[in-house]
Amino acid sequence: MTTGAQRLVSLEGGAGSPPPWSGYIRRSFGAWIPSQRRAALAVALSTLLVSFIHFATPAGPHEWHWVHLAAQKLYLVPILVAAAWLGVSRTILVTLAVSALFVLHIVTDWRGYEMVQADQIGDLVNLWVAALVASLLFQRIGRSLERIHRSHEETLHALAASLDLREHGTGQHSCRVREYALLLADRLGLCGEAARWNLATGAFLHDVGKIGVSDSILLKPGALTDVERAEIKRHPDLGAALIGGIESLGEARELVLCHHERYDGTGYPRGLAGEAIPLGARIFAVADAFDAMTTDRPYRRALSFREVRASIAAERGTHFDPVVLDAFMHISRAEWASVAARYGIVLAET
Ligand SMILES: [Fe+2]
Repeated sequence: MTTGAQRLVSLEGGAGSPPPWSGYIRRSFGAWIPSQRRAALAVALSTLLVSFIHFATPAGPHEWHWVHLAAQKLYLVPILVAAAWLGVSRTILVTLAVSALFVLHIVTDWRGYEMVQADQIGDLVNLWVAALVASLLFQRIGRSLERIHRSHEETLHALAASLDLREHGTGQHSCRVREYALLLADRLGLCGEAARWNLATGAFLHDVGKIGVSDSILLKPGALTDVERAEIKRHPDLGAALIGGIESLGEARELVLCHHERYDGTGYPRGLAGEAIPLGARIFAVADAFDAMTTDRPYRRALSFREVRASIAAERGTHFDPVVLDAFMHISRAEWASVAARYGIVLAET
């Protein structure tokens, strides 16, 4: 018999599969942190610009000498950009490059002026102090943010896993539909990091409202009465209310609330139709149906890929958004099978 602890562990996916939240930290940070390449480009361009101004206004007694002095102070800009986005070791490399320019200037332009050279060396020391302090502080802040983000993800995971303790299999189902929804999102060209994270999180938490449904209904082996069916249909509202106070889950909440809506307006709880249903929920509907049909149920065996394709295609424009359905039809069996295999699901051809 499977214990609760074993079931929680089983939510981590099949053998060899990545943990459910693997990669999402980097992706969500990526929404506001420029890529390494863009940061490196900003460092190179600012160094070139500052050097051009600095060397185009030579040292010495002339009316533009103040520009020369100001440009020299601006060497702090590429160093701080590097400290913020390129890490400690690359900041040291950038500071070494700036130091080489500085030393060249000290040796060639101020030969014989020991007092000025001493002053310039003092400026260089300031740059090194700023580089080391700023890069180490940014590194600390980055690690703290990553820890906070990871604990946030783990809390969400625990929330979803808590339902699995009551209704065994829900956790694995949530993991699978999340991966299927992301596969559909890829084919639809939905590549924004924030949109993908919202879709993944909403799909993972879609049934979390079932926590508020009593065991006598949730685990009832036989057919449900009308009253019981009405009770279980409250779970999208319950789930949306449960996570409604978490600001970062605003978009995911929409998916949780609308995951039983149908494209033709016959779904619940609002009876929304067409594009009034959030895109994430329209994508989820196909992923959810695919998972339901490709896994064994107490009343039937899993259907083959060909049968599943035909069943889903038959509901184009009724249950499913035609655009999402077209994307579904363009994904090969091999692609579906490779995702399913991570969770131990074998997708038969016929
Ligand atoms: Fe549901």
